Amino acid sequence: MPFKLKIYVGFIILLAIIFLIMPYNNAGSLDITGIIFFMAMSILTESLLIITPGNRTLSMGFVINMTAILLFPVPVVTWITSIGIMFRTFRNNGKRIHIFNYPMHKTLFNGANIVLATGIAGIAYRYLGGTVGEIDLYSLFIPTIACIVVYIAVNATIVSILMSLLNNQPFLKICYDNIIWVVRNYLAIAPIGILMAAAYKNYGVVGAVLFLGPLLLARYSFKLFIDMKNIYIETVRALSYAVEAKDKYTQGHSLRVSEYSIAIANRLNLSQRRIDNIRIAAILHDIGKIGVEEHILNKQGSLTNNEFDKIKQHPITGVKIIQEIDFLKDVAEIILSHHEKIDGSGYPYGKKGNEICLESCILSVADVYDALTSDRPYRAAMSTEKALEIIEQGKDTQFSSVVVDAFVKYINQCKELKGIAS
Ligand SMILES: [Fe+2]
Repeated sequence: MPFKLKIYVGFIILLAIIFLIMPYNNAGSLDITGIIFFMAMSILTESLLIITPGNRTLSMGFVINMTAILLFPVPVVTWITSIGIMFRTFRNNGKRIHIFNYPMHKTLFNGANIVLATGIAGIAYRYLGGTVGEIDLYSLFIPTIACIVVYIAVNATIVSILMSLLNNQPFLKICYDNIIWVVRNYLAIAPIGILMAAAYKNYGVVGAVLFLGPLLLARYSFKLFIDMKNIYIETVRALSYAVEAKDKYTQGHSLRVSEYSIAIANRLNLSQRRIDNIRIAAILHDIGKIGVEEHILNKQGSLTNNEFDKIKQHPITGVKIIQEIDFLKDVAEIILSHHEKIDGSGYPYGKKGNEICLESCILSVADVYDALTSDRPYRAAMSTEKALEIIEQGKDTQFSSVVVDAFVKYINQCKELKGIAS
């Protein structure tokens, strides 16, 4: 772990320890049964973690965090929520993860993050007039909303600084993506936490348990949504393999193009939504080749005009294949223009300059680079240096110069990491 990252992780854990040992002067009135119950609920809900294909996580523990903030003093809240994180157990890539098989510094950092998010949100709640144990939905509307906003802001800030240090990416872009990812989901499940606090206040443990049903239902809906996206991505991959199976020279091409395109998009600070579209477009960009005869795709010599005209149709055929799928509309535009060139000499429509979307420009550079560095029926694979030279020569004629610059930096960085002298 880099030194500055160690310092940051250590600093966050130290801050959390300060929150955890914050003095509480009224120990006699603590609701011990409630604390133990909500610690168990925290472990249970944190264990219902949902992990997306892009390795993003969504925790149902937020519901219990909200409930705890409304019901308990801040030091108690931080203990309840950190216990939930420390002792949660969840499945990732088919493996069950728990405190004894997960790196301790990661567990401590995650625990510290939740301590600071709930601790600071709890302080904000009280500062704005919220009172521990008094659940009045009307008078506490503003403190509760403020509490949710502070929680999301602190949580996103702590995680985004870490990701920014780890991946050398701009903090603001990562923070924005993290906030966008959680805000709708947290606002949707926060009412369950508020109602659970009210039910606990009036009916005790039994009242709170009644809200496990809606919570599990919310989690089930999220899970269905994520599973649906997973299935969709797997289907897209299968389609892409079907195309690559026709052409022995392009096996693995779409996955490599996807990898390069995402790297460029990250360097250009594109939003997560645009990066997700690029990922799918890269995997599917040559899906239209399914309509081109195999003898043309695998031809050893140069193509006749007629054969090349057929190849030129593949972006349009690709769009026809996916245009009926509503959530692929943005992806269709990227695919349509992946062979267009900045000077207007590309195909299928000869678009030029700004008429070509940035995503297509990214895909174009990644596509050509992978083609140049792979064996083809008519030539052997080129070296990285030769391929980069050709790409740089195409700046402002074939390719967008901004995209080429970002890509060259990425490849050089990869070479440095691999210890290859450039
Ligand atoms: Fe293509």
